[in-house]
Amino acid sequence: MTRRVAVIGAGPSGLAQLRAFQSAREKGAEIPEVVCFEKQEDWGGLWNYSWRTGTDEYGEAVHTSMYRYLWSNGPKEGLEFADYTFEEHFGRNIASYPPREVLWDYIKGRVERAGVRDWIRFRTPVRRVECKGDSGKFRVVAHNLVDDFEYEEEFDNVVVASGHFSTPNVPEFEGFESFNGRILHAHDFRDAREFIGKDILLIGTSYSAEDIGSQCWKYGCRSVTVSHRTAPIGYKWPSTWEEVPLLRRVDRKTALFKDGTSKKIDAIILCTGYMHHFPFMEEELKLRTANRLATADLYKGAVWVHNPKLFYLGMQDQWYTFNMFDAQAWFVRDVMLGRIRIPSRNRMLQDVADRVAAEDALPDDYACIRYQGDYVRELIAETDYPSFNVDASDLAFIQWKKHKKADIMGFRDNGYVSPMTGSMAPVHHTKWVDELDDSLEGYLKTVSPRA
Ligand SMILES: Cc1cc2nc3c(=O)[nH]c(=O)nc-3n(C[C@H](O)[C@H](O)[C@H](O)COP(=O)(O)OP(=O)(O)OC[C@H]3O[C@@H](n4cnc5c(N)ncnc54)[C@H](O)[C@@H]3O)c2cc1C
Ligand SMILES: NC(=O)c1ccc[n+]([C@@H]2O[C@H](COP(=O)([O-])OP(=O)(O)OC[C@H]3O[C@@H](n4cnc5c(N)ncnc54)[C@H](OP(=O)(O)O)[C@@H]3O)[C@@H](O)[C@H]2O)c1
Repeated sequence: MTRRVAVIGAGPSGLAQLRAFQSAREKGAEIPEVVCFEKQEDWGGLWNYSWRTGTDEYGEAVHTSMYRYLWSNGPKEGLEFADYTFEEHFGRNIASYPPREVLWDYIKGRVERAGVRDWIRFRTPVRRVECKGDSGKFRVVAHNLVDDFEYEEEFDNVVVASGHFSTPNVPEFEGFESFNGRILHAHDFRDAREFIGKDILLIGTSYSAEDIGSQCWKYGCRSVTVSHRTAPIGYKWPSTWEEVPLLRRVDRKTALFKDGTSKKIDAIILCTGYMHHFPFMEEELKLRTANRLATADLYKGAVWVHNPKLFYLGMQDQWYTFNMFDAQAWFVRDVMLGRIRIPSRNRMLQDVADRVAAEDALPDDYACIRYQGDYVRELIAETDYPSFNVDASDLAFIQWKKHKKADIMGFRDNGYVSPMTGSMAPVHHTKWVDELDDSLEGYLKTVSPRA
């Protein structure tokens, strides 16, 4: 009987898995039947924008955390597919920080060409995954939302690619219930224009705080105040931007901070991160990990050590994204095809412990970038994923960090060398601070040698 693989999620990670199998088939390999379950009506995961927040038209939690005017926060040279370059997709090289719609188009281009769309059951969230002790097979319960019925099927392997930047981590601060303004989590932020002329308070100091604050500044909020639990972000911010210690409480429209200072504010945006959340996985199969580079319980960052017929993709905190998901997808494909042998449980546990210890010893962000680059390099060396110049990607990230330090509102005006083609990205025709058009057409309009 044909072996069957369930892939949960058709975002960049799940699509990498489909492309990995399709590429093996293209080269003559016999592959299992692959069924991808996707909750949304289209592919692309977080990159599939929705104006909705809260629940969707079927009562499902809205997946995307992306917002209007979102541009890539890292250089595209750190995420390029090795088997489908930007030049191949767009017919020429493009600038280094594409807006969301441009990257969504790129993600879709590869899988459209691969012809794997009919492997996906859209509008079909997975409700339950259990491992049946006797057969070792997985029982997957899915919900057809359109016709509103649940059904179950059996699979030999399960690949969880449901993402981990969708279920918000929402702390509460004293006085929230009587705050006279809007309180929202970054997950529900959609349009910076809502905050034109407002004084906004952001809690958290990572990418969401940085980027949502920058958006609101660019589109005309009155001031940005960023409150930190551990340390301030520390870039050279515009004059209407201030970093303060952690919020202690709010009193109507006044925010009071740990150092005794206070500020009148109109809105609070909790940029406090996300949870790894897998309510559909039975307890013994459920990944519990912090958002870090070396995840818990995943051999080679992708194989569930307690049952190596189960895989998780893209569960790391991410410098590298699309091509790291590819590296993982090709690796777990080859495990499923019997091309890569899984070691003993003890060896797998040791692998996890070694990765955690190595990450814990990293001195700074630059070392973190190289650590994740080395991880990608390690995985692709074990499969037929096209080898690429990981050093060039590392370098793009390192230059990106330096460009942010030099000019936080201008870093997107730089270009980097493609790790795939070796060509230098052109500079975008308009400076990011002046560019209010984030459409695909607007971005691809012309590429002038502005610099
Ligand atoms: C605001 C924001 C901005 C970002 N910007 C960038 C950026 O500029 N550059 C970059 O490289 N990365 C960025 N990222 C990181 C992002 O995590 C990755 O780019 C990428 O989207 C991760 O892909 P994924 O497939 O692992 O997860 P996701 O993109 O989250 O996709 C998961 C998919 O699984 C589906 N799903 C979930 N649960 C179920 C279920 N039970 N049953 C069926 N389907 C399910 C979802 O509907 C979704 O389609 C950003 C993240 C956020 C939150
Ligand atoms: N334009 C873009 O491309 C873009 C924009 C936004 C986000 N993203 C992506 O989205 C992903 C998630 O980023 P993120 O910033 O949302 O999450 P994150 O990186 O996990 O950061 C969470 C932040 O919340 C803080 N925090 C958590 N709990 C808190 C609490 N109880 N009180 C105060 N602070 C608390 C953390 O502070 P501590 O440091 O103290 O722990 C940290 O600063 C990243 O991959 C990022 O690249 C991309």
